[in-house]
Amino acid sequence: MFYIGIDLGTSSVKLILMNEKGEICNTAVREYPLYFPKSRYSEQNPQDWYKGTCEGILELLNGQNPEEVQGISFSGQMHGLVLLDDKDRILRPAILWNDGRTKEECDYLNHEIGREKISSYTGNMALTGFTAPKLLWVKKHEPEIFKNISKIMLPKDYLAYRFSGIHCTDVSDASGTLLFDVKNRCWSEEMIQIIGIRKDQLARIYESYEVVGTLTKQAAKELSLPQNVKVIAGAGDNAAGAIGTGTLNHGMCSVSLGTSGTVLIATDKFAVDSNNALHSFAHANGKYHFLGCMLSAASANKWWMDKIIGTKEYIKEQENIKKLGENKVFFLPYLMGERTPHNNPDARGVFLGMSMDTSREDMTQAVLEGVTFALKDAVEIARGLGISIDRVRLTGGGAKSLIWRQMVADIMDVKVDILKSEEGSGFGAAILAAVGCKQFSSVEDAAQKLITIVDTIEQNPENVKKYKKKYQIFCSLYPTLKSTFHTITLTD
Ligand code: XUL
Repeated sequence: MFYIGIDLGTSSVKLILMNEKGEICNTAVREYPLYFPKSRYSEQNPQDWYKGTCEGILELLNGQNPEEVQGISFSGQMHGLVLLDDKDRILRPAILWNDGRTKEECDYLNHEIGREKISSYTGNMALTGFTAPKLLWVKKHEPEIFKNISKIMLPKDYLAYRFSGIHCTDVSDASGTLLFDVKNRCWSEEMIQIIGIRKDQLARIYESYEVVGTLTKQAAKELSLPQNVKVIAGAGDNAAGAIGTGTLNHGMCSVSLGTSGTVLIATDKFAVDSNNALHSFAHANGKYHFLGCMLSAASANKWWMDKIIGTKEYIKEQENIKKLGENKVFFLPYLMGERTPHNNPDARGVFLGMSMDTSREDMTQAVLEGVTFALKDAVEIARGLGISIDRVRLTGGGAKSLIWRQMVADIMDVKVDILKSEEGSGFGAAILAAVGCKQFSSVEDAAQKLITIVDTIEQNPENVKKYKKKYQIFCSLYPTLKSTFHTITLTD
């Protein structure tokens, strides 16, 4: 029996074919373009997602018996705004999670309506990447489009709609819309009013492991699959990733070094931190989680490698890094503004501390360290809430780097677990499909049977001490530069 996990990412869709034993039998990837039509804008064409996903499924199933496929589920880039008209046609390009155009709208929500009020309705504050402020932006700047909105969808839910014909979403992804009452796992009537939309424009809500429906006749034909294949709601990529790493029990923590960098902490009960520095979201196992999200993680390294020093040899470049904890160069990784903890779309990248003897590898090291320090910011907030974090499960493209793994251990002062499956969110999506099809009795049951730790990196006490001092310096940089960042954007 097979289950398909679709990880709808920002640069590509990654698909995995998993059997009932949790073994990954095949994978496929399709890339698609990302558009930055103006400074701060970040958009994609939902048609590209669908086309890439269909092609990927056909490749995945090449040589396999399609009759064995039981269910399909999703992990999706969160917060993206997909707008459909009354004939379910796409009204405009999707506005993505890393789009920073809605500063004014967020100021309105956080300062005029009030952050405390918004947080009491949703568990979160308004952030530029979230969905609701984007709706306000469309209302102001594209009123004709706003008038024609029939359905407001999230990226992975657009795929689920194309497959099943049902406008659906799941609790974890809905949590990032700012239209969702996270605690009670339903749409917020208050937010619907504040944004000026109607409830019927929003999708039907499911738990992440629930079956939404089966394939439509057309989707079955396009995918060369039987029509009785089940479509399971799926989850936002962080919650799905946490399923894939088994980050389910209260206090467990996973860190992802993907395009964005995230720190996810599972909690049994709904809770909010008083500054809303961490997001409070519904988890894909029926419970809750905290999330810290930095916008440029592995993408900061990619920018440095590909664009600035011009190499694809990431690992070779990192081999020249010698001493952890002794670098004099600092890097602030805010290349697309920053979410956790600064919530500032104006923040920008900075190198600091270079001298004539600074080498190329010092700069490379600073980039990796800067991203890790920025992720530590989220870990420290959770620690401040009384959650003890002494080990993390590390995933994402960056987790392949041995030196980056060690930096995470030393900078965060944790043990770092590496898992057998490197697929993270896609694996989580396939697990949700299997749970939806009753292959496992619960998400916990599946995780217990399928997830294996293959390596643990211990922190080096000497490096931990050195990095503690460096972290203090790192923490002093953003406040010093904050107003300068704002001045720079005024000149845009
Ligand atoms: C989470 C977030 C990102 C995107 C990227 O809040 O914005 O992790 O989901 O895929």
